[in-house]
Amino acid sequence: MRLLWQRAVRLQKLLPQTRPHRRLLATTTASARGNGQEERERRKWSSPGSKAEMLLYGAFWVGGLGLGYFWLTQRNSSTAEATPDDEAVARLWHITPRKDLPTYKADQVEQHNAPDKRIWVTYGLGVYDVTEFAENHPGGDKIMMAAGSAIDPFWAIYQQHNTLEVLELLESFRIGNLEGLIVPNAEEELGSPWAQEPVRHALLKPASKRPFNAEPPIGLLAEKFYTPNELFYVRNHLPVPVVASEEYELEIDACGGEQKPLTLTLAQIKALPRHTVTAAIMCGGNRRSEMTSIKAVKGLSWGAGAVGNAKWSGARLCDVLREQGVQPNESMHVLFEGADLDPTSHPYGASIPLSKALDPRGDVLLAYEMNDEPLTRDHGYPIRVIVPGTVGARNVKWLTRIAVADHESDSHWQQNDYKGFSPSTDWDTVDFGKAEAIQAMPVTSAICTPLPGERVKVDPQGRYITVRGYAWSGGGRKILRVDLTGDEGKTWHVAELEQEDAPDGRHYGWSLWTARLPIPEEQQQQQQLEIWAKAVDSAYNVQPEKFEHIWNLRGVLANAYHKVKVKLA
Ligand code: MTE
Repeated sequence: MRLLWQRAVRLQKLLPQTRPHRRLLATTTASARGNGQEERERRKWSSPGSKAEMLLYGAFWVGGLGLGYFWLTQRNSSTAEATPDDEAVARLWHITPRKDLPTYKADQVEQHNAPDKRIWVTYGLGVYDVTEFAENHPGGDKIMMAAGSAIDPFWAIYQQHNTLEVLELLESFRIGNLEGLIVPNAEEELGSPWAQEPVRHALLKPASKRPFNAEPPIGLLAEKFYTPNELFYVRNHLPVPVVASEEYELEIDACGGEQKPLTLTLAQIKALPRHTVTAAIMCGGNRRSEMTSIKAVKGLSWGAGAVGNAKWSGARLCDVLREQGVQPNESMHVLFEGADLDPTSHPYGASIPLSKALDPRGDVLLAYEMNDEPLTRDHGYPIRVIVPGTVGARNVKWLTRIAVADHESDSHWQQNDYKGFSPSTDWDTVDFGKAEAIQAMPVTSAICTPLPGERVKVDPQGRYITVRGYAWSGGGRKILRVDLTGDEGKTWHVAELEQEDAPDGRHYGWSLWTARLPIPEEQQQQQQLEIWAKAVDSAYNVQPEKFEHIWNLRGVLANAYHKVKVKLA
């Protein structure tokens, strides 16, 4: 493991621009100005077939096609055997005229912009009638944003989930060809929203490249109590905005208070009393890949590395709000907006209850430092909100606006994402409006070493192996215990914990743990072992044993026992 770290450090040295934000900004600005060729090459390398990559996530956003894709694949698993060649061919469909179909002018397409006139959209030179889809599938209403026009600009931004299934779904709606179209290069047309993405550490494993979502190798995670900034998982829904520190302004609309809206510069935020808190941030979809193995879910396939632990420093939100005259009110919310905009110019947004924001023990921060360094661009430079104990989605990066309101954020990510459902809820029955938004996260743990399939040396004297991992619970609940078994629960062994000395209820950092797990006789003979880990938090909440009973269609809150099979040497 030390070797892995040394490699990480060496790689880090090779990539100096991934560290201080100033150098990062300088690098991206330079590449935007003068080094377009290099940038283009880098993007080409990192994203083969980028135009087709636009499809699925854009489909989800613009037409709900992503949801439809899921619906389709639930019913038709035959496409699972698609080859890369099939996909390559499918990527050409929207730029290939179909001789069997009529040709339409752009102004003809424009007429079809409502259900009673039918809903048409174009992509490349394809014309598609998506009326039935828009009316009958969850999220289908979103296609109205592009009704009667091109979906290309949307797909220039949403570029993940490049699958044959979605291309097939779209092509099945094709009714014609668009006349006189010079196929636009959507990226160039828009000045490429991805042109100024930061350079990332080579060890971050992307779950999607655009938007960039990546986690560090799980084997590294439990090595350091504070996750190194450059190896901290990244979860972006949109291109990373470029925010210049001297131009940065945060608007605070505390309409619940007595004062007028306030605007704070970065210098003014830094001049406020500084507060530091250790907090883990975990994506709501952490460990989704394990839940998917029970039954498919929709979402990025995260391993157990969509979590990190850091020391965050900044101004306390409760101080700022109180200064603005905001009074406690159990039914109010605090809304956050980021500088990252979707194609309709709506920012990423989320909200938390006002009671959490105003509670000094809630430790909500307007953070400007992560592990004693300025935030990197990927992690929200120059200011992000840190909401300790709360699902990552509410920790809004590149914070531009805070508002106190009598309702939750109306953003997609608060209303139609990051919510949990019963295992019986499917895409035909789901009603996002009726489910609560996730706030505090449930107790979880993961085995970081050994890795699945690893050949592990058994200590010859003690007949044990060493197992390491992390555990964490939301809401400030401290981890009390981590239990391990090597014989499916017949015997359990308690791990040693490494954790911060923070009071319960305010214990926001993760706990690392190490266990010497004795190898049962039977497993010694079979030379293989399945390790199970479960954590217990200060409310004696314990992880559920199986994913079957907590499965949900979005694959969030995946906190069942972590199980890792290894070989014994
Ligand atoms: N804030 C903005 N503005 N845009 C985003 O896409 N992603 C959220 C949250 N804040 C997001 C955001 C999600 S879902 C998570 S899990 C965390 O940021 C991830 O934070 P990190 O990338 O610093 O690890």
